[in-house]
Amino acid sequence: MSKSVLISGCSSGIGLCLARGLRDQGYRIFATARQANDVDLLIAEGFEALQLDLDSSDNIQTVTKQVLDLTENQLFALINNAAYGQVGAVEDLSREAMRAQFESNVFGTQELTNAVLPAMRAAGQGRIVHISSVLGLVCMPMRGAYSASKFALEALGDNLRMELVGSGVQVSLVEPGPVVSKFRDNALKTFQTNIDADKSVHAERYKQEIQRLNNPGVNSRFTLPPESVLKKVEHALSASHAKPRYYVTTPTWIFGLLRRVLPTRVLDALLIRG
Ligand SMILES: NC(=O)c1ccc[n+]([C@@H]2O[C@H](COP(=O)([O-])OP(=O)(O)OC[C@H]3O[C@@H](n4cnc5c(N)ncnc54)[C@H](OP(=O)(O)O)[C@@H]3O)[C@@H](O)[C@H]2O)c1
Repeated sequence: MSKSVLISGCSSGIGLCLARGLRDQGYRIFATARQANDVDLLIAEGFEALQLDLDSSDNIQTVTKQVLDLTENQLFALINNAAYGQVGAVEDLSREAMRAQFESNVFGTQELTNAVLPAMRAAGQGRIVHISSVLGLVCMPMRGAYSASKFALEALGDNLRMELVGSGVQVSLVEPGPVVSKFRDNALKTFQTNIDADKSVHAERYKQEIQRLNNPGVNSRFTLPPESVLKKVEHALSASHAKPRYYVTTPTWIFGLLRRVLPTRVLDALLIRG
């Protein structure tokens, strides 16, 4: 029987690539998306697809129950991929914008994880994969809310890994740098909704941010296709000892190293330049 994998955020980018790639590897995929029309597209591709919005506890409980029923409680892996980036200087972030960022990237993600863990513990095996970010390792100006959410995910992932020792359930954090997806398009939307750029002391800097978000980054030498993440996730699901962390892209390797060796102010100077 093929191993079952539940993936959040399969409407685009990394999640869609993971759903397709892992299905090709023989996994039974439960592909989820937040919007009904994206669920229809996934069904049209032959996926077992469900609507899942991490901002809704009810929805999380309903979907996990459905998936656990369909797999007879034998869900092998959960890939926590769904998230978005709230761009904006820390002093321009409203409580609502911060709360929304954490609802999706942290609280919903952890609630979904907690909903599948009892079945994994009972089965004596399972894999939890958090798609984190290089911005879960270091911070960059204008990315405070997103970085805070990914730092929180890193902490929860590390805690969970230690608390699950002996259960047969393994936890991995995947740390991509720039990857081709709709991430920037989606970040531009939440920026425009939640940040009053013209009234900010950072108004000039925001013009550059808008330019950056309008550029998909496809031709940047550091930007990789989503298949680069797929390779690491395949390992996290198939290795007898999954790694606690998987770095993806050169910037992740560089900053993963530099944060360990450089004094904070020197690291700051590099990160400020972006
Ligand atoms: N692309 C990068 O450069 C990069 C770098 C580092 C880490 N990451 C991480 O990679 C993961 C995937 O992002 P991506 O690059 O593939 O971006 P993407 O193309 O924007 O995909 C993000 C997915 O998350 C979904 N999502 C967002 N909030 C949600 C919520 N509350 N409930 C359910 N689904 C939600 C989106 O759904 P909608 O379509 O409905 O918005 C979409 O399916 C994220 O965790 C991101 O932080 C990406």
